[in-house]
Amino acid sequence: MAERNLVLGVSGSIAAYKAVDLASKLTQAGVDVHTVMTESATKLVSPLSFSAITGRPAAVDTFAAQERFSIGHISLAELADAVLIAPATADVIAKIACGIADDLLTTTVIASRAPLIIAPAMHTAMWENAATRANVETLRARGVLFVGPASGRLASGGFGKGRFAPIGEILGLTLKVLGRNGDLSGKRIVVTAGGTREPIDPVRFIGNRSTGRMGYAIAEAARDRGAEVVLISGPGWLPRPGGVDVVEVTSASEMNDAVRSALPADSLIMAAAVADYAPTEVAKEKIKKGPDELTLTLKRTEDILKGVTDVRVKVGFAAESEDLIGNAKRKLVEKGLDLIVANGVEGFGSEENKVAIIDRAGIEELPLLSKREVAERILDRVVQILDGG
Ligand code: CTP
Repeated sequence: MAERNLVLGVSGSIAAYKAVDLASKLTQAGVDVHTVMTESATKLVSPLSFSAITGRPAAVDTFAAQERFSIGHISLAELADAVLIAPATADVIAKIACGIADDLLTTTVIASRAPLIIAPAMHTAMWENAATRANVETLRARGVLFVGPASGRLASGGFGKGRFAPIGEILGLTLKVLGRNGDLSGKRIVVTAGGTREPIDPVRFIGNRSTGRMGYAIAEAARDRGAEVVLISGPGWLPRPGGVDVVEVTSASEMNDAVRSALPADSLIMAAAVADYAPTEVAKEKIKKGPDELTLTLKRTEDILKGVTDVRVKVGFAAESEDLIGNAKRKLVEKGLDLIVANGVEGFGSEENKVAIIDRAGIEELPLLSKREVAERILDRVVQILDGG
């Protein structure tokens, strides 16, 4: 992946300690993180924490930064592919809205042409203050992206709006912004993930062991390559990725409706394990224990993928416990797919997957890879088809 330089601005909110984790996750995602802290942030977290995590010195004031790293605010500003301020206090938001540049962070912001993302964290009263409201509106109107704040328990006590957004949301939006010129830029990709649940009664359902990891990995990889991504997800415990439009569904028929309303798209990638049968009737009340045997009558669900026409590249998955390649090839033809990803059922729940990507011309066998790497390889093929290759 191309080099991506991010200026991470950290200001003096108590949430500054969470920015260390954020810096770590950004670094793990391959981003070159250049931390710039305000003086008050250094009272809460040591610059050393950021230096150790990112492998780059964390800069604080303009003069010292120029002296030590011969890289002043202008070069930092020019280097940045994006600037993220996380956490951002009411004070730093106000300064940026007014164009004040009195420390390295605000000077870097004013000198940079890169997209700016702000993740505020402050007490509810400060967030709701008329001055803050006006400043946020001013910045939004200038194209600044805001992530959060969330509602919940605040460090100052009590509950309200002002909490630092979940790290995954900030991370996701930042990676989306950094990937804006990727090879899927301007493309709309719809991904389904996880298993569906078919209700039997108000508390029971028929489900499967799919965790959604493969679909989530595809959605995140597509986002990081510049796509506008809709992730239609069955129930599960995976955190919602930021920078992706997530639609939560439960049953196969809800997934069908969600897919249809998300289309048309450049590509539909159906990684979800969709139920083929659902109970003919859903009991209104919880079914009571009765005779030794109970028979449930099931009816076929609609094949979502088969019925879809308004996508340029249609990708299916085939999870098989026998005759993997034979079954996958049959589904490729029957469902009118461009590609089918064939995997054994042992990949369910695992971080890794061993798959083969099949099209009408042949089979590409991949080695055991992380689900993220599998996702990248599938997207390479999607890009190739979209580009007419
Ligand atoms: N699929 C779908 N709608 C369904 C069932 C499956 O869109 N009602 C999609 C899956 O998301 C997957 C592909 O079709 O991309 C193949 O799913 P799979 O469960 O492997 O195959 P089935 O079509 O259900 O066939 P079989 O039960 O014979 O294995």
